[in-house]
Amino acid sequence: MPPKGASFIWSETPRGGPRNDGGMIRGRRPPPRNNVGMIRGPYPPPRNNNIGIRGPRRPPPRNNNVGIRGRHPGGVRGHDRRPPQNNNVGIRGRHPGGVRGHDRRPPRNDRGIRGGQKALIMSHRHEGVFYAKTGKEDVVLTKNMVPGQSVYNEKRISNQNEDGSKVEYRIWNPYRSKLAAAVLGGVDNIWIVPGARVLYLGAASGTSVSHVSDIVGPTGVVYAVEFSARPARELVTMAQKRTNIIPIFEDARHPAKYRMLVGMVDVIFSDIAQPDQARILSLNAEYFLKVGGHFVISIKANCIDSTKAADKVYEQVRKELRAHQLKAREGITLDPYERHHACLVGDYRVVEKQNN
Ligand SMILES: C[S@@+](CC[C@H](N)C(=O)[O-])C[C@H]1O[C@@H](n2cnc3c(N)ncnc32)[C@H](O)[C@@H]1O
Repeated sequence: MPPKGASFIWSETPRGGPRNDGGMIRGRRPPPRNNVGMIRGPYPPPRNNNIGIRGPRRPPPRNNNVGIRGRHPGGVRGHDRRPPQNNNVGIRGRHPGGVRGHDRRPPRNDRGIRGGQKALIMSHRHEGVFYAKTGKEDVVLTKNMVPGQSVYNEKRISNQNEDGSKVEYRIWNPYRSKLAAAVLGGVDNIWIVPGARVLYLGAASGTSVSHVSDIVGPTGVVYAVEFSARPARELVTMAQKRTNIIPIFEDARHPAKYRMLVGMVDVIFSDIAQPDQARILSLNAEYFLKVGGHFVISIKANCIDSTKAADKVYEQVRKELRAHQLKAREGITLDPYERHHACLVGDYRVVEKQNN
């Protein structure tokens, strides 16, 4: 069942059938720059993990492993007495009461499955992505590169193969990952597939990067660029266990600084929420994206121009990308998972066929 809210801005691909076959679920100052050389390279291991960098940027779910009922298993204190969200119906209403300001905690959308619960896991039409139909709601999953470990307290599901071997999957939360929101929104292609080389701009602490790492698998690589020190530390910690992630602590506005670390890539995924993000993407494409490669960009309308209607902003970004040979083929809004966000997917330096 398609999610309510997501809508195609446009798509060049003719569509038939359901859009969503994946089912519905639904700083601190950076360390001193290396003044000697241009390239700072991968961010060094965290100095002290115990100080000040606990948890991802968004507060993590409080208790994912214990009980899926009752919003506040540990009791609610202070002002945090919001009514429970309707988690059983999947994707309805992210903020039923209209949450404003910074209090935008993501709903615990992985509650549909309890630890150890059996679920029928199927391949999603996006290669490397899976989905499970559970009693209450369906979830998208990626195959865990590091079985036994979660990255952001997400739930895991184990499945036994016919030969007795076990495979573990991690639930991919669309409220925490715009890429997952795009997949669930029914985007035609994300181009991130097993074996792909991906440049990921705006890695943050690695929530989505970890799922991209799962998808590309051991034969692929994820170059994960993040310029904010605090999330970059968590990213590095995570990448220590995931050998296909190369964390790069740099400003994506200056791809020359990390050109020695990044090879040519098949896909660039950009999620940096900056007013000049189209320019940043095109700069990186010039350096690293192969001809005929693909891009996926998440656009937060307010970040670019809060005075314009979101649709106008998406169109503005599309045109800007087009001017740099990044041709968007598809655009989709990320409602209901992310309001006022859209995702554009397209290709790079593809010569249009002439109609004779
Ligand atoms: C919306 S968050 C990314 C969330 C992440 N993609 C995920 O799904 O887990 C945007 C991130 O981009 C980073 N960022 C913004 N501008 C950047 C730049 N110029 N270079 C590198 N990172 C940047 C921010 O520090 C922030 O962590």
